[in-house]
Amino acid sequence: MGSTTDNRLQELKAFDETKAGVKGLVDKGILKIPTFFHHPLDKFLKATNSTNTQYTIPVIDFTNIGKDPNTRQEIISKVRDASEAWGFFQVVNHGIPLNVLQDMKEGVLRFFEQDTEVKKEMYTRDQTRPFIYNSNFDLYSSPAPYWRDTFKCHLAPNAPKPEDLPIVCRDIILEYGAHVMKLGITLFELLSEALGLNPNHLKDMDCCKGMTLLGHYYPVCPEPELTMGTTKHFDSSFLTVLLQDYIGGLQIFHQDRWIDIPSIPGAFVVNFGELLKLITNDRFQSVEHRVPANSIAPRISVACVLRTDLRAQEKLYGPIRELLSEDNPPRYRETTFGDYMAYFNAKGLDFQALSWIIWIELVYILSMINKIDNLEK
Ligand code: OGA
Ligand code: NI
Repeated sequence: MGSTTDNRLQELKAFDETKAGVKGLVDKGILKIPTFFHHPLDKFLKATNSTNTQYTIPVIDFTNIGKDPNTRQEIISKVRDASEAWGFFQVVNHGIPLNVLQDMKEGVLRFFEQDTEVKKEMYTRDQTRPFIYNSNFDLYSSPAPYWRDTFKCHLAPNAPKPEDLPIVCRDIILEYGAHVMKLGITLFELLSEALGLNPNHLKDMDCCKGMTLLGHYYPVCPEPELTMGTTKHFDSSFLTVLLQDYIGGLQIFHQDRWIDIPSIPGAFVVNFGELLKLITNDRFQSVEHRVPANSIAPRISVACVLRTDLRAQEKLYGPIRELLSEDNPPRYRETTFGDYMAYFNAKGLDFQALSWIIWIELVYILSMINKIDNLEK
C-alpha cells in the first residue's frame, strides 16, 4: 500500500517537474494517458444534449440596459429567475467589444502555445507570485488530476505591473480585465436589485473588490473517456464570469442530470459561487459544474473570479440581514473570508469528505473552545 502511494507521489512529482503541464504530454505524442490521470468511471458521463428549453440555461440580452428603465426592470426580473432556478445564465449584448473577447482567447492560446522553454520559467506553485502558471493547482491533494493547464493572475484590487505579466498576453489581460470588472459591477447591481436591495448593496459588501483571471487550456486528449478536463466542483467565488470558446463542453448538474452549456459566440457564462449562496441564504444557487476532456481540438476558457480582497482575511460574511425573517431564518453561521477560503484551498476541486458548511461549524466550535480555554487561564 505504502509503495503504491510513494509511486503515485513520484509520478505526480515527475509530471510537475517537467513544468510543461498536460500540454507537454500531448506534445510528446502519447497515445495513452498516464494512469494517474484516470478518473473513476462516471455513470453520468453523458450529458443531456437536448434542445428542450427545460434543459437550457437562460440567455439574457443586455441591449439597452442603461438606456431604458423598463428594459432594465425586465432584465432584473430575468436575472432573478435565472439566479433562483439555475444559478447559471449566459449574457449577450453586454457591451464588451467582440474583438476584445476574441483577442483574450487568442492571448491565452499564445501563452500556452509559446516555446515551452519560455513558458517553463513561469511555472510555479508559489501563490505570492503575480503570475502563476501550472497544471492542476490541487495536483498533490486531489484524487486524480484533470486534463488542463492554467495560468492565474490577480487583477483587483491592485492591478499587476505590466512587466509581471507574460509579454504574449500582457496588454489583452489588462484590457479584458477592465471590461469584465465593469460588467461584474453591473451584474452585482442587478443582483442587488433582484434581491430587493439598494443597487450598491453587494458592491458595498466588497463582493467585487477582488478579481482573479484564470486562463485555462485543455489540450486534446487521446483517451477523453478516462479522465476529465475540469473535475466537478462548486466555485468559491461570489460570482464567476466565464468565456468559453467554440468547442463548448461546460456542463452543469441540474435536476439530477448533467446539462451542456452550449457555446454562444460573444456570450459570457455567469455563475455563482458558494459565498453568494451563503449571503443570500440559499436564494441564489451555486451549482456544480465540470468540463469533460475532448479529443477534437484544444479548448480555451477564461474565468474571471469576483470576490473580496484576498487579504481581507478577517472580513465576516453571513446571510444578509435584510433578507431574513421569521419564515426565513439564517441557514449559515457568519464566517470570516479567511476561514472560508482555507477550506477551498486545502481541499482541491473534488474532495467531498467534508462540506464547507461543516468546516465552518468546526472552526466555530474550535474558536469557542479556544475562548473558554482563554477565560479559564
Ligand atoms: C472554473 C471553471 C470552466 C471552464 O474555472 O471554475 O469552472 O469552462 N471553468 O473552463
Ligand atoms: Ni468553476
